[in-house]
Amino acid sequence: MARIDYRVAPGGRLRGSVEVPGDKSVSHRVVMLGAIAEGTTEAEGFLEGEDALATVAAFRAMGVEIEGPREGCIRVHGVGLHGLRPPEGPLDLGNSGTSMRLLAGLLAAQPFDTVLTGDASLRRRPMRRVTQPLQLMGARIETTPEGTAPLVIRGRRRLAGIHYPMPVASAQVKSALLLAGLYAEGRTCVVEPAPTRDHTERMLAAFGAPVRFGDGTACVEGGARLRGRRVLVPGDLSSAAFLLVGATIAPGSELELRGVGVNPTRTGVLHILRAMGAEIEVLDPREAGGEPVADLRVRHAPLRGIEIPPEWVPLAIDEFPAVFVAAACAEGETVLRGAAELRVKESDRIAAMAEALQGVGIEARPLPDGIVVRGGRIRGGSVWSHGDHRVAMAMAVAALRAEGTVLVRDCAAVATSFPGFAELAARLGLGIETVVR
Ligand code: S3P
Repeated sequence: MARIDYRVAPGGRLRGSVEVPGDKSVSHRVVMLGAIAEGTTEAEGFLEGEDALATVAAFRAMGVEIEGPREGCIRVHGVGLHGLRPPEGPLDLGNSGTSMRLLAGLLAAQPFDTVLTGDASLRRRPMRRVTQPLQLMGARIETTPEGTAPLVIRGRRRLAGIHYPMPVASAQVKSALLLAGLYAEGRTCVVEPAPTRDHTERMLAAFGAPVRFGDGTACVEGGARLRGRRVLVPGDLSSAAFLLVGATIAPGSELELRGVGVNPTRTGVLHILRAMGAEIEVLDPREAGGEPVADLRVRHAPLRGIEIPPEWVPLAIDEFPAVFVAAACAEGETVLRGAAELRVKESDRIAAMAEALQGVGIEARPLPDGIVVRGGRIRGGSVWSHGDHRVAMAMAVAALRAEGTVLVRDCAAVATSFPGFAELAARLGLGIETVVR
């Protein structure tokens, strides 16, 4: 793979009105539920990023006909709960944790064996959090001795529903169990220690599955059929977050982001940025395909450091790289705790962001489960994204407040979640240049 760096000129501001790419979480689920539904599922606004495309390729390899995606339109010809066919080889899910963990649940119930693998980052990530509860349901899944992928999933197992209190707040674990639960005997219930994104539950309901959720427990009955349907994929708030932070920190900025998903299990970043002083308006709230959507208007505002309330952490779990950049531009200290999950994302985001912020002159002190960032002057410099898409984009927008050029190394992974990020950000005013090595 070509190595890509971002060279970002200091200063500038973000102005304009744009749509951000489709929601990654919802895009994965469109393909997965569409594939095991009866009839056709058509989606608009589908994210044509590498992660969602890895899910598309996996289902194609299991005999599902999928047209597109082309300009955000995708059509999945469902094969029904029992229509998947054995793939010819291992399914390579690239960088995508969502693909691997959700598929582990879905494939645990199939009448054939599968092997799930991925890139070096994905093969470092913990998988026992899904394989252990799936084993309680009767699944047989082997991991490496470290509990990582490749996962060898033995099929032909009869699964039974369980009542599972999740030790970590994880939408991927919850979703894997609900997908396995579709095939299990009886009812599968997952109890959450804190609310996490509920896209699987909402989409299961929209596809006609007997699912109950909303009170800290999500349950599904086994054996029900899903019906394919039209889905509108909202813009991804996790992608919008980089632009929200960029516009907030750069004087003279004013941005409108249209059609962004504002599902309340995702809006922690809005709560955090507003508590720091950001001016973000949520305009014209509406529904699209069972998901709340709105236009967001943001303009520059001075920020102050805060202690981030722990209940907001799972609601903002992917947005912390961007939030740390906001903290670097705030008056005083921002303290995050209770976020040890950040250490097992596409990179160790606490270590990677502490290193990157220090690399541009910001005081950032990692904690075992969080970080303390002191606002200050961003000098500029050369930093490494650790191959993590969100670290790369966060450090690129940090240049808006830098005194010198910011070189962000190893940014190819941005294509997993935000294809066209550099072009879009440049159009809005970021002095970003892509350097291919
Ligand atoms: C996701 C859940 C979250 C999130 C990831 C997408 C999903 O992971 O970080 O980017 O689509 O279910 P966890 O479940 O590990 O918190």
